[in-house]
Amino acid sequence: MPDSLIVTHPASATQATLNITEASIKAADLRQFRIGDEPLAAFDPGFTNTAVCHSAITYIDGEAGVLEYRGYPIAELAEKSTYLEVAWLLLNGELPTTAELEAWEQRVTVHRRVPEEVKTVLAGFPASAHPMTILMSSVASFYSFYPDARNFDDPESRSRALVRLIAKMPTIAAYAFRKGRGEDYVAPDDDLGYCANFLHMLFAQPGRPYEEHERLVRAMEVLFILHADHEQNCSTNAVRSVASSGNDLFTCCSAGIGALHGPLHGGANEAVLKMLREIGSVDRVPEFIEGVKAGKARMMGFGHRVYKNYDPRAKIIKKSVEDVFEITGVNPLLKIALELERHGLEDDYFVSRRLYPNVDFYSGLIYEALGFPPEMFTVLFAVPRASGWAAQYQEFITDPEQKIVRPKQIYTGHRTRSYPADGPR
Ligand code: CMC
Repeated sequence: MPDSLIVTHPASATQATLNITEASIKAADLRQFRIGDEPLAAFDPGFTNTAVCHSAITYIDGEAGVLEYRGYPIAELAEKSTYLEVAWLLLNGELPTTAELEAWEQRVTVHRRVPEEVKTVLAGFPASAHPMTILMSSVASFYSFYPDARNFDDPESRSRALVRLIAKMPTIAAYAFRKGRGEDYVAPDDDLGYCANFLHMLFAQPGRPYEEHERLVRAMEVLFILHADHEQNCSTNAVRSVASSGNDLFTCCSAGIGALHGPLHGGANEAVLKMLREIGSVDRVPEFIEGVKAGKARMMGFGHRVYKNYDPRAKIIKKSVEDVFEITGVNPLLKIALELERHGLEDDYFVSRRLYPNVDFYSGLIYEALGFPPEMFTVLFAVPRASGWAAQYQEFITDPEQKIVRPKQIYTGHRTRSYPADGPR
């Protein structure tokens, strides 16, 4: 592959050189691209073929179904690591030493509590409020309590904001959950690890502390590792775009939470459960598949912009499903999901479009078995994604190549015309 291409304008025959950079993908550098005197822009709605940054955090090979954080395969991390260790890895580029991990865990633990006034932010929402809306607003409100987060060029200030975000996300998520159920908030328990404390804040009842089940805590830990980062997806792009105008981490992550909430992104896990319930029984699966093929519905939890192979996260979650169901009992919707997957992997509609189960296909079944209502599913995606957003934010802020995000448009409306002399029509 040459490191440049000569492009010829068909009308004027003017030639220009296009520089090609090659790392994980080949990309043409279009920043200053001109043919003769004329700038030439790329038209790429949805950024389907546009690289917006250099990044050293997460590597995906969608063709081969590979996902790595800082070079470590996701399956190894899911088997051997913990969420907080992975968060450190994403933020710092290397796995922590034992001493670093211990200090990091302690630092996160001391920041778990949220300011009392945040509870008044929560109180303003109706009981029916979606917990993602509560999460988004609460995280945005953190900037009012920690304005130091605007000093993001100072590594100390930046580090304080990162740890606060990662530490407080589970607390806010648990409060949003309990508010929906009309229950009092449960304060963090400093003797519990990150995931065990999260389950405690969610499910403990007065006089009946959450009974920690080691395998369920581990299942949560694995789900958190799998969701921690996924390079330049819709919500990460939102975080980076909002950061580009000089914003603090909390405002940026609030934007990320909003982007994640959509059903084509993180909201898909909630949509999968809704779809499974609507299908209702295994014998109705063929009819549903025919509807999808006729364009009446999408098979939620299937397909991915990058993966044209089985999503490696879905493979790991599918294994966890059995583990969790051994303790919680089998979710009856599993049979419908397995039958849908069987059709999806055999039917030419899905095969020819290379649509495979993605991370959201099986995760909802586990969440439901753990006792979460569907509206909490995307929250359970957002809480661990905080570490990925934080790492991406940090990389963006320290990247001298980056500028305020400001795409171009191709204008198709009227050109200059005069306001009618006799006033409005
Ligand atoms: N069910 C049925 N058809 C589909 C699906 C699906 N889930 N996904 C894509 N297609 C079809 C689509 O209709 C199109 O067909 P045609 O070429 O005949 O018009 C073709 O496949 C390509 O689809 P696309 O919408 O152009 O692909 P995209 O890369 O823009 O969209 C996607 C990716 C994830 C939004 C899409 O696959 C989808 O809507 N999936 C369902 C929602 C979902 O599960 N989202 C979670 C993604 S993973 C978690 C995350 O990272 O957010």
